[in-house]
Amino acid sequence: MNITHLSAECYPIAKVGGLADVVGALPKYQNELGANSRVIMPFYNNAYTSTHQFHSIYNSVLNLGETTYEYQILKLQNEALEFDIFFVHVPELLFKDYVYSAEDTLRFLAFQIGALDWIIQQDELPEVIHCHDHHTGLVPFMMKESYKYAKLQGVPSILTIHNAQYQGWFSHDLVGLIPEFNFVHVGLLDWYSVINPLASAIKCAWRVTTVSPSYMEELKASANGLEALLRHEYAKCIGILNGIDTEVWNPETDSYVIKNYNIDTIAEGKESNKAWICKEFNLDINKPLIAFIGRLVHEKGSDLFPGIFDTILQQNNCNILLLGSGNSDVELQLNTLKPSFAGIYNTFIGYDEKLSHIIYAGADFLLMPSRVEPCGLNQMYSLRYGTIPIVNKIGGLKDTVIDINTPNGFGICHDGATPAEICNAINRAVAFYDDPKFTQIRREIMTIDHSWHASAKAYLNLYNSLKPAL
Ligand code: ADP
Ligand code: GLC
Repeated sequence: MNITHLSAECYPIAKVGGLADVVGALPKYQNELGANSRVIMPFYNNAYTSTHQFHSIYNSVLNLGETTYEYQILKLQNEALEFDIFFVHVPELLFKDYVYSAEDTLRFLAFQIGALDWIIQQDELPEVIHCHDHHTGLVPFMMKESYKYAKLQGVPSILTIHNAQYQGWFSHDLVGLIPEFNFVHVGLLDWYSVINPLASAIKCAWRVTTVSPSYMEELKASANGLEALLRHEYAKCIGILNGIDTEVWNPETDSYVIKNYNIDTIAEGKESNKAWICKEFNLDINKPLIAFIGRLVHEKGSDLFPGIFDTILQQNNCNILLLGSGNSDVELQLNTLKPSFAGIYNTFIGYDEKLSHIIYAGADFLLMPSRVEPCGLNQMYSLRYGTIPIVNKIGGLKDTVIDINTPNGFGICHDGATPAEICNAINRAVAFYDDPKFTQIRREIMTIDHSWHASAKAYLNLYNSLKPAL
């Protein structure tokens, strides 16, 4: 089966968050199951694109309303990825040193139109077009309604919602940028009087998936304005839990970590990684190390961190290390706390892939008190590295972590992202560090299977269920 994924991010080429990890792994696992799965993404100006070889396979122009842009389709020459990856290169709009910006309407429209213009030139059409998040949300509409893409009307389109908070809204004044369609159907673009690419994709895609079953349920009650639409379209919606790439995220072979380890050598392995972290960040190796890795945004509960860390660190019985960036007030407050808790607290404000791997390996607990977590990959990475997750019981966190106080439990769960609940959960973790079961549990969690195998199959089953209509 020929599957084309369209995405703004794909690891290792361009990554802002978990979307990249998913799109960088799912096609590989689909190919292992016999599919021919490929990715199309924008061509950015970043460290990866400047150090790898690409060749141009298509040269043309694309139109955004009255304006014409030259563009190319590039193909990456890299067998190591185990799937083909193509790039829409619109020098004027997409070739920037960032992924997202304030001009994303034009940029991602150019991406979507450039991709579809190229796809319809090919002799063989994809059997499925799989769109990820709002950046590719106009594709299902254009495939269904734009005259120039009539050839694609019979090709199933899938939307995966990785995060419904971001919807890509823009004004109807810009509707002329979308390739011509029968204006009677303009309502398929609209939600509350603006063009809403995510809503449009929910209306027009043949199937809609979210990245965990619990998030799918939660969206019916809270989806940043799209609740009623999701309830209405529920029959075509399904939650499929993300997997993790167990080749990239393997403590035994991970080239980023300080010392590799497996279930038999976990004690020495984690100790060496923790020792490196404690030296690098001036932390106390004899106390449990609680880490946070992620975007400092409201959804992750990061505005609560300064207050919570202050309360917890006063007790002087654990270390806290944070790797992340985002809201500048939160960044400032987190850094302001440092002098008061030197020796048990530190931050790295920024993005650092290597450091994140070392932290998954060296931390004792990983904190994820998210208010919203569609799936969350960090808790699955931490399990694989023998690091016990502390999570709020929502979305994908609820689907992947069971509290230690329940049968077969292995993590620390709390009910709600409130300071009291989070502090209580951290205190439970600190107490558990001295429990005789601590070492046994961290060995056991390394063996939990969150690989992509089952989910890649679930997506193929979903595509296959649409086949008779081809
Ligand atoms: P989200 O996509 O909402 O940010 P996920 O849990 O799905 O959350 O995925 C986050 C991904 O980004 C993980 O691979 C995590 O390790 C990585 N990540 C987040 N922040 C950083 C950072 N500051 N440095 C390195 N990696 C990070
Ligand atoms: C989004 C979500 C996150 C999810 C990721 C990959 O960024 O916030 O929970 O894991 O997408 O699907």
